[in-house]
Amino acid sequence: MAEQTEAVHGTWSNRWIFILAATGSAVGLGNIWKFPYITGENGGGAFVLLYLVCIVLVGIPIMMGEVLIGRRGKLSPMESMRTLAKEAGASRLWRFVGWMGAIAGFLILSYYSVIAGWALIYVYRLGSGQLDGIGAVESEAMFNDLLADPVTLGLLHTAFMVMTMVVVARGVNKGIESAIRVLMPTLFVLLIVLLGYSLNSGGFEEGAKFLFTFDFSKLSGESVLVAMGHAFFTLSLGMGAIMVYGAYMPKDASIASTVVTVAALDTLVALAAGLAIFPIVFANNMEPSAGPGLMFVTLPVAFGQMAGGTIFGALFFLLVTFAAWSSSISLIEPLVAWCVEKSIASRPVVAAVLGLITWTLGIGTVLSFNEWSDVEFLLGKNFFDSIDYLTANIMLPLGGLLIAIFAGWSMRRSTVQKELNMDSFLLYNLWTVVVRLVAPTAVIVVVVWTLFQDQIVAILGLE
Ligand code: PFF
Repeated sequence: MAEQTEAVHGTWSNRWIFILAATGSAVGLGNIWKFPYITGENGGGAFVLLYLVCIVLVGIPIMMGEVLIGRRGKLSPMESMRTLAKEAGASRLWRFVGWMGAIAGFLILSYYSVIAGWALIYVYRLGSGQLDGIGAVESEAMFNDLLADPVTLGLLHTAFMVMTMVVVARGVNKGIESAIRVLMPTLFVLLIVLLGYSLNSGGFEEGAKFLFTFDFSKLSGESVLVAMGHAFFTLSLGMGAIMVYGAYMPKDASIASTVVTVAALDTLVALAAGLAIFPIVFANNMEPSAGPGLMFVTLPVAFGQMAGGTIFGALFFLLVTFAAWSSSISLIEPLVAWCVEKSIASRPVVAAVLGLITWTLGIGTVLSFNEWSDVEFLLGKNFFDSIDYLTANIMLPLGGLLIAIFAGWSMRRSTVQKELNMDSFLLYNLWTVVVRLVAPTAVIVVVVWTLFQDQIVAILGLE
């Protein structure tokens, strides 16, 4: 099966479309919404450094592994893993890595859509001039009112889920590719314009200092896990999204340079988002550790005061919506691709049904911000925090770990070498060592340490 030459689902028109699509998947709420707020919660620069180390040491090598598996298998992650395991004479159980990923993607989408819905309403709020001249206190109150209103949140979540499933229903070339051709270039232009504004805003120096001063005393034990989990989340790793996009990648494209381009673009966008948000936070005496509301509370204040803020503000939140949109389609694509391969139903029907199930689960997140805010699900966390913790900090790293082990140890060397087709033998060997040893060790140490810190400290008598 792995020898087949044509993918069931279609192929990107060229290597650049893969780069755009993978960057579209990678760049999303994770960069613009989550990265700034978790950096704020974890004390700034030292956290940024940890995150960068994780991107280079763990993210890029595993991403290469994912693309390699996807392009070789050409099918949904579950089927690609199954056929490649067979090809390599490895256990059939490997396909469950694909399944765990698909489930993680579906869980992430359920809350991702709720947050993207916030961005949708902020396009309207800013564009209609409602936030002109707003102060920090009013902005916070306005955001809190939104969170307290499950009906509005539910409607916004519905709108975003419909947007996502319409693109997915149209398929790889007509849907995903044509959406991405427009969304991604627009996104980059908008980001550059906004960065220009932030450079001239009063708090730039302080904001940059916060992001790039490494004060390790500000890190908590959990920060390392959050940084690593975020590296997986932001690069869309460990759950098959990049694998399934790799399945649509043309044979002649170089995996290594493509992956490095995607990771670099993703990191640039995150840092640019940080550089746009923190100066405003400091210029207005706000708290960098404000949590999930950081972007939604701070930015309207800046836009409300700036000349042309109505249009720039609306554009910024449009950018966030676009970025989230091009990511959300990749969250559900592995599961949709599998259902289509198995001829369970046509793509549009599969998209509609899976969309409805995801939507239903998302209602749990909608309620987490109001009716269920005190209801505990996992480790004393509410529904939204539980799903976020479980997926980003556990399922994605675990998925990534298994993918690294599969690509590094189980696949045939000849297959790997042929797919990667790297000119430099040195770089190929370096990748092999990292994917076999360094990345798996890093993931195991970080996850085990964070989850069982207390027990380990007690056993080793470290206190
Ligand atoms: N990488 C996306 C972001 O940073 O917003 C989120 C994401 C998309 C995670 C797709 C995982 C995924 F498979």
